[in-house]
Amino acid sequence: MNTLKKGLILGVAAISTFCGNPTKNNPNAEIDRKVDSLLSIMTLDEKIGQLSLYTSDMDQTGAFLRPQYIEDIKAGKVGSIFNAYGTAYTRKLQEMAVNETRLGIPLLFGYDVIHGHRTIFPVPLAEASSWDLKAIKTAAEVAAREASAEGLHWTFAPMADIARDPRWGRMVEGSGEDPYLGSLIAAERVKGFQGTDIHDLHTIAACVKHFAAYGAAQAGRDYHTVDMSDRLLREVYLPAYKAALDAGALTVMTSFNDLNGIPATANKYLFDEILRKEWGFEGFVVTDYTAIMELLYHGVAKDAHEASALALNAGVDMSMQDGFYMQTLADLVKQGKVTEKQIDIAAGRILRVKFQLGLFEDPYRYSDPENEKAEIMKSENIAAAHDMAKKSIVLLKNEKQLLPLSKKTKTIAVIGPLADSKRDMIGSWSAAGDWAKSISLLDGLKKKLPNAKFLYAKGAEITGNDTKGFADAVNIAKKADVVIMAVGEGFWMSGEAASRSEIDLPGVQEDLVKAVSKTGTPMVAVLMNGRPLTINWLDENVPAILETWFLGTTAGDAIADVLVGDYNPSGKLPVTFPKNVGQIPIYHSMKNTGRPFDANNKYTSKYLDVSNEPLYVFGYGLSYTKFEYGAIQLSSKEMKTSDKLTVKITLTNAGKMDGEEVVQLYIKDKVASASRAVRELKDFQKVFLKAGESRELTFTIDNEDLSFYRADMSWGSEPGEFVVFIGGNSRDTKSAEFVLN
Ligand code: NOJ
Repeated sequence: MNTLKKGLILGVAAISTFCGNPTKNNPNAEIDRKVDSLLSIMTLDEKIGQLSLYTSDMDQTGAFLRPQYIEDIKAGKVGSIFNAYGTAYTRKLQEMAVNETRLGIPLLFGYDVIHGHRTIFPVPLAEASSWDLKAIKTAAEVAAREASAEGLHWTFAPMADIARDPRWGRMVEGSGEDPYLGSLIAAERVKGFQGTDIHDLHTIAACVKHFAAYGAAQAGRDYHTVDMSDRLLREVYLPAYKAALDAGALTVMTSFNDLNGIPATANKYLFDEILRKEWGFEGFVVTDYTAIMELLYHGVAKDAHEASALALNAGVDMSMQDGFYMQTLADLVKQGKVTEKQIDIAAGRILRVKFQLGLFEDPYRYSDPENEKAEIMKSENIAAAHDMAKKSIVLLKNEKQLLPLSKKTKTIAVIGPLADSKRDMIGSWSAAGDWAKSISLLDGLKKKLPNAKFLYAKGAEITGNDTKGFADAVNIAKKADVVIMAVGEGFWMSGEAASRSEIDLPGVQEDLVKAVSKTGTPMVAVLMNGRPLTINWLDENVPAILETWFLGTTAGDAIADVLVGDYNPSGKLPVTFPKNVGQIPIYHSMKNTGRPFDANNKYTSKYLDVSNEPLYVFGYGLSYTKFEYGAIQLSSKEMKTSDKLTVKITLTNAGKMDGEEVVQLYIKDKVASASRAVRELKDFQKVFLKAGESRELTFTIDNEDLSFYRADMSWGSEPGEFVVFIGGNSRDTKSAEFVLN
């Protein structure tokens, strides 16, 4: 018998001996026993191998693994691979690990499955605009079904980074500026990916990233420094990660930034103190790409050994791509800088996830070609993506009810660099999505209105200063009844390493809009972008504006649905749109300051050259119908900490179309031991009402909703006066006051 195989069998035998009868015991305790028995027969190098994750690559001939990694896999020096998918390919790699290493420990396959795997859903910021938690969960479920059907076990998502600086390109991958909305969405994504049973073949392990506060990079420049108070960290940035972990996320990724001087990947406070001790996290922590090596550039380690020791001692279990753990940990054990026990703990956490996924029962269980064929881009998946895409669209302006367009419109000019783009529709981080299968706006409209005449002109490129295409665009606009103007950013202008210092329409696009708008033909601007844009001119001059972000595979269909009123837009902005870059950071839950704005007093908090008001407030979004809010009714004007206050409001659909409204509830604590935000989102309901229908909605406020980090950083409420606001965005609200005794 081949000695390698013999080793595997010995290993498995040892595991079963230690395990006893699996059916009688609690599965977690059993997995722990299996992990311990496996660790007891592993060499130090094999254990360190489990802490090492490397990428697969792609060239013209397809996917391949660098020769060094193949050797390393066979030597038991690799625990996980990322960027490898497809049943055939993952099986091939898995066979190397299972058949050719001493113990046959299966590989874990990870990938950035961020907003869909093959069927691409709207970018996460767009999904967040739906405020539809059920649809968001479904999106993650579908992504997990497709990813797991292609041999994947693990996604590097959700990104739970709160972001208040739209210059930061990665804002597109999160849920915007608000910790409450961000927490709910991060939790739903985890539930969608992992399901109720991670052993189920259609689920994958989630990875909450980037721990911590990656979204607060200074000046919105990616990978930049983060410096913030513990109060801000805990009030705003940590809750969404915590919510994702409470939802059961099995893994966490470190962030690239340093936090208050200590790079996250070497940050004991973050991983050892907060994540493990305070929150009791038991899964494993992976670094971001080469982040241990980057400790050298941060200037906190002089060589690979120091960097690895810092990371492991901080509580980081797996190194992504830099190979630093493999290179140094055995030496570090010899030198007494880290202990073998620490390595056992880290390897144990990773092996536990492999057991939970069932990889030791059958390492190929996710590599079934029949399942792959059945799941990938099946019609239900496309339908779910289409549903999510419609719900993600935000109507920003609709003067004189230009929208929805009549289905009898005769001639439609479709103009702009994004009007017939397929590639941009699937956005950044589009996993294994095939852009050629996506639907452009022009295609979607043609399908929707087969009897209309379409005139198309690109007009300009997304970037650059070529205006040669303007004449054509103006020419077709003159002949049309309406212009649909698709402008915005290229898919590559948001996402990782895609920060911008100006966030207006790139290139000559605004000039194109101006030139076409001079024709006087009514215009609808369809924005496609991965962050808020400063579109003041459009807001003042274009009668109708739709924010569509990047809507994924079915983008064109979803936009067409909204343009003709087959779907009544219901999205609300999860992030504030500034008027200019100088206002950043700008968000709804700002502090009042000691000198709140007063137009008649120079010495109050304001600018000389721009107002304090944003272009569009958080939570904003119009509908084709009109929603009216009654007065707030409180069950009492007073409450005790043990009480629940009932808040009622009547919502009426006073327009002519059925529609959905996101009813938002905000609270302000008027006087507290630490200064509080002017309002904080605490609850919302997405409500469907038929035209003319009214409904009384009920919210409940309890002590937790009134709690915060007090002056001494303890968590709890303080007696005093509170204001509750309810409305369809964070500015236009009804309010009522109550007292907490
Ligand atoms: C770097 C990104 O920051 C992270 O989010 C991603 O998961 C890894 N690369 C792996 O692709």
